[in-house]
Amino acid sequence: MNQSWQYTRQGMLSETLEKVEGPIPTPASEEIVVRVKAISLNPIDYKLASFPAYIRRGMGARPYGEPSVPCFDFAGVVHSVGSGAGEWTEGEEVFGRIVRSAASGSMQRYVAVSSSTAMTRKPAGLSWEQAAAIPLVYMTVYGCLVNIGHLPFKPTEQEKGKRSVLILGGSGGAGTQAIQLAKAMGLNVVTTCSKSSDEMVKKLGADETIDYRTENVGKKATTSKYAPFAVVLDCVGGTDAIPYMDQLLLEDPKHPELGVYVSISGDLPPHEPMQLGSAIMHVGRQTLRGIRGSLNPYIPSWFPLRPWFANKRYQFYLSVPERRMMETVPAFLEHAKEVLVDEVFDFEVTLEGGFR
Ligand SMILES: NC(=O)c1ccc[n+]([C@@H]2O[C@H](COP(=O)([O-])OP(=O)(O)OC[C@H]3O[C@@H](n4cnc5c(N)ncnc54)[C@H](OP(=O)(O)O)[C@@H]3O)[C@@H](O)[C@H]2O)c1
Repeated sequence: MNQSWQYTRQGMLSETLEKVEGPIPTPASEEIVVRVKAISLNPIDYKLASFPAYIRRGMGARPYGEPSVPCFDFAGVVHSVGSGAGEWTEGEEVFGRIVRSAASGSMQRYVAVSSSTAMTRKPAGLSWEQAAAIPLVYMTVYGCLVNIGHLPFKPTEQEKGKRSVLILGGSGGAGTQAIQLAKAMGLNVVTTCSKSSDEMVKKLGADETIDYRTENVGKKATTSKYAPFAVVLDCVGGTDAIPYMDQLLLEDPKHPELGVYVSISGDLPPHEPMQLGSAIMHVGRQTLRGIRGSLNPYIPSWFPLRPWFANKRYQFYLSVPERRMMETVPAFLEHAKEVLVDEVFDFEVTLEGGFR
């Protein structure tokens, strides 16, 4: 028997989730069914359940009214394999991320996923919880640094230590993996965090920290010995560093592809549900910043109105799951210090424990 947590209406998951029992899914030809051992909770899981219907649809999620199982990340054992999903075998230990438009999420005992899902075999030595904590966040920060930032995943010896990144929000789920991925890629890392997280982020590899509670982050980062930065990766969603963007970002004529401010949260602080007005402002402000970024190469520095028309490259990045990214996880883990798991909850007490 399968058991899943489902919701049908907009709202806080702690109020809308219900446990539903049903048959264990049978895989379609191109699918496998995974017996789920652990999942992880990401901010998008509860945000998606509270977004207005049109944003939710725009993101490819099921409409309200139809049952939705939340969560993307999973780690588990291949339970059954469809006739056309021959690359997987029953009993294999896997972990990965379901695509946003999938019929159901991972918060259930068995989940059917496409055989082409962004997943890979679980390395030995990684617990189920650690494995489930990796995929969505890892593929997000990988996308920011490698796809958008154009920094090499495997740098040459000469490239190591040459480039720097500024990670805003280094102590969160995304930030802790971003720091470790950046270090694995031979980058210097400056990050923001509160004083209480300083020791932890330094253990993970951060070379320099800025206390966002007491410092003007943007201004302080411009004075870092590691500035200017090939990438500013914003995992927080504040706008503290935006006014300093042009000074913070690297400008290397030999490498014009470097120097980008990439945000995974947009301008709003995390955990704030978006209503129509704020969503329009949110998208509008960032779109303008992105357009000004693409005008940057065409507006000369002597032009007095340049700041109105141009800023350095800015991009909002929405994570895209790709198998090839998941396949780089074992190489990343060779360098990573620790896959952090905040708290573990039992499937049965998810409501009480997981969605406060
Ligand atoms: N676009 C995408 O595809 C994508 C993918 C994944 C996540 N995200 C988004 O990324 C954001 C972060 O996710 P997460 O999982 O990392 O969240 P999280 O684990 O909840 O991050 C919380 C951390 O943020 C830190 N923080 C809060 N305000 C800060 C500030 N002003 N400056 C620096 N650090 C600050 C806190 O640090 P201290 O404890 O040090 O105070 C805390 O540890 C969320 O908004 C999430 O929706 C987007």
